[in-house]
Amino acid sequence: MKIEARIKRVLSIASRKVFGTPTYARSYEGLYVILTHSTPRRLWNLLTVELEYRLRKIRLKGRPYILVIDPTNVCNLRCPLCPTGRLEAGRKGQLMSLETFQRAVDDLAPWAYKVNLFNWGESLLNPEIFDMIAYCRDKGLSTHLSSNLSLELSDEKIDRLLNSGLQFLCLSIDGASQDVYEKYRKKGDLELVLHNARRLVARRNELGMKRPLIEWQFIPMKHNEHEVETARFLAQEMGIDKFRCIPVGLPFGAPEQDKLRDEWFPIKVQSGQTEEGVEIASNDQATTSCSFLYRYWMVNPDAKVSPCCVVSGAKYDFGDIDKENFDAIWNNAKYRSARSQYVRNGNVEVPTVCDGCDLFEKRTNPPFAKSIAVERVE
Ligand SMILES: C[S@@+](CC[C@H](N)C(=O)[O-])C[C@H]1O[C@@H](n2cnc3c(N)ncnc32)[C@H](O)[C@@H]1O
Ligand code: SF4
Repeated sequence: MKIEARIKRVLSIASRKVFGTPTYARSYEGLYVILTHSTPRRLWNLLTVELEYRLRKIRLKGRPYILVIDPTNVCNLRCPLCPTGRLEAGRKGQLMSLETFQRAVDDLAPWAYKVNLFNWGESLLNPEIFDMIAYCRDKGLSTHLSSNLSLELSDEKIDRLLNSGLQFLCLSIDGASQDVYEKYRKKGDLELVLHNARRLVARRNELGMKRPLIEWQFIPMKHNEHEVETARFLAQEMGIDKFRCIPVGLPFGAPEQDKLRDEWFPIKVQSGQTEEGVEIASNDQATTSCSFLYRYWMVNPDAKVSPCCVVSGAKYDFGDIDKENFDAIWNNAKYRSARSQYVRNGNVEVPTVCDGCDLFEKRTNPPFAKSIAVERVE
């Protein structure tokens, strides 16, 4: 293993042990955001959250410092393992209004570090996305976007994106040839994606900007794992800043998990590395309490709050920022019940979607029956 890969591996294991982060979290970007966006209040809040997380507190004084505010759950592609691509998101497709977005940001901007402006759709389809990113920048927040980039981007849009203050741009490109790429990114056009990516890099460099940092994210699966190396070389050749592999996930609650695993899981790259030594983080169950319930605040395009960015359905919601303020939701019975599953003899007051989740190790089994069937929403 190369020395750089070895150091990254040690850092990612250390970050998992010390901070309880999943290995696929971008530790290098997290550190950068803390160094560049701290204020005394943010830092104090971060320490409070991390302490409460480790103490497995149920009612929190700390506030989430990573905001996931989804500009849209509508998408141009049909990825077969994405709830939106499968038309099984369980929530009406819509664009978030700029007003709702600003309200979601305002609730937590003094305490939070960054906003992920994506979750269950293609954010660049929202015409107000550039204003949304700029709004976060003006509030001193870092911003992160993931895009399939398989859409027409005018020169003006490229400039607006670059000038919005976006800090981190993740490009979802799971292949190096059209045939392979479109098996997962159904309806996607690789040539268009690469054309857009080249223009973004060239224009950013022309403007003398260091940010957004641009990452090519590749999800190795059975049909595309042989193209990881070709994609990595291509990314390098195109001047993309980072190439990164993440583990493939299955849609939460989908009934045919074994069949999907057989169909999509990679064969050669299960040991945490490709044959060429590219690390692929593990998504094994974490032994910590659920970090989403402490660090994250997830607002959907319809202003409803989800407990995490793994579940998409409206029936799993924990709150609604159109009806209640942040304080009323953050420690409500659903949040308390969800957090209680990670303490011994926890008091699980009401059923939540967390009852059926096994991403983190529980200490109290919820007394309620699981109900995690997915709904089809066209
Ligand atoms: C649901 S997408 C929405 C953003 C955008 N449409 C995109 O694809 O980048 C959010 C993230 O999930 C990733 N993703 C899609 N399918 C996945 C899967 N089966 N397992 C893990 N991550 C996945 C995407 O690549 C993206 O980084
Ligand atoms: S491009 Fe993103 S949002 Fe669209 S279907 Fe694929 S993973 Fe889902």
